[in-house]
Amino acid sequence: MTIKKIAVLTSGGDSQGMNAAVRAVVRSGLYYGLEVYGIQRGYQGLLNDDIFSMDLRSVGDIIQRGGTVLQSARCKEFMTPEGQQKGADILRKRGIDGLVVIGGDGSYHGANKLSKLGINTMALPGTIDNDISYTDFTIGFDTSVSIVVDAINKLRDTMSSHERSSIVEVMGRHCGDIALYAGLASGAETIIVPEVPFDMDEIAERMEQNFAHGKRHSIVIVAEGAGTGEDVAKQLVERCATLEPRVTVLGHIQRGGTPTPADRNLASRLGDFAVRMLISGESDKACGIIRNELVLTDIDKVVNSKKEFNVELYELAARLSQ
Ligand code: ADP
Ligand code: F6P
Ligand code: MG
Repeated sequence: MTIKKIAVLTSGGDSQGMNAAVRAVVRSGLYYGLEVYGIQRGYQGLLNDDIFSMDLRSVGDIIQRGGTVLQSARCKEFMTPEGQQKGADILRKRGIDGLVVIGGDGSYHGANKLSKLGINTMALPGTIDNDISYTDFTIGFDTSVSIVVDAINKLRDTMSSHERSSIVEVMGRHCGDIALYAGLASGAETIIVPEVPFDMDEIAERMEQNFAHGKRHSIVIVAEGAGTGEDVAKQLVERCATLEPRVTVLGHIQRGGTPTPADRNLASRLGDFAVRMLISGESDKACGIIRNELVLTDIDKVVNSKKEFNVELYELAARLSQ
């Protein structure tokens, strides 16, 4: 079947670079002679039939913007078989034969369900969490890591002046990648992630010794999936009162702001790839990047596997932060 009309939506937690991905889908689609539609507010907008035609100008001046011009939503109704059938019917009624979903693992499940109902779908990894299998990186992750590193640079200044320790809680849901990559890039002494067991006695003792040996500050970065910053600080104080931990929860700041060039380029490549793959007859596939090569994987496979944690990087960060 030849694809003529495609639609694009952004879903789940937004991420920096989603706009660049939408722009790439729209402009590539038009370049290849397709009609392109935008769906407002993710699967919720699909169920509300909030679908509109997009042209070259509708994605002008957005490559540099965080957030998503298509907006995002979490939609309970779409979790039900009835909701999914309704979504597929709306797309069919409008003659839309291809759908690009930009979102995280939850959104991938939704795309997977629509494919089983006969809609050609492509899923793009749009999440800061970097928790999607079969792609080395997700759109927004690099920007998020940059934001965390920038915050830690600032914290270092004031922590050094007062010889304190800084506990920085970062996002990532069940994935420790933001903590890992930001921790390595900022020279954090301790990186606490859900993927690796940790011993608070050992962490407190090492921090105490480091101060005794002349370190002027200590940075502990904790992924939200492993616990809260407040909890870590409490446990440290119970073991060593002199550590003087100060907690910073970076929160949704990690999800905003202008996307880095790496995220914009990743989004542009993946958006264009998704369109070309739909045209070539592929469906029910996740687009990703592995060792800088664009790859296509069955969504089934992606949603049924857990992203592997990079233990080598984790060990490197530990070796370099002594
Ligand atoms: P993310 O895509 O960032 O992981 P969510 O997990 O909130 O974010 O998922 C986004 C949306 O995808 C949900 O609100 C829901 O509409 C849809 N979704 C999530 N899981 C499923 C599922 N198992 N089946 C169908 N749709 C789903
Ligand atoms: O999935 C992206 C993410 O920012 C996670 O890192 C975080 O746990 C969650 O979304 C926060 O969700 P909400 O935007 O609903 O507060
Ligand atoms: Mg998710």
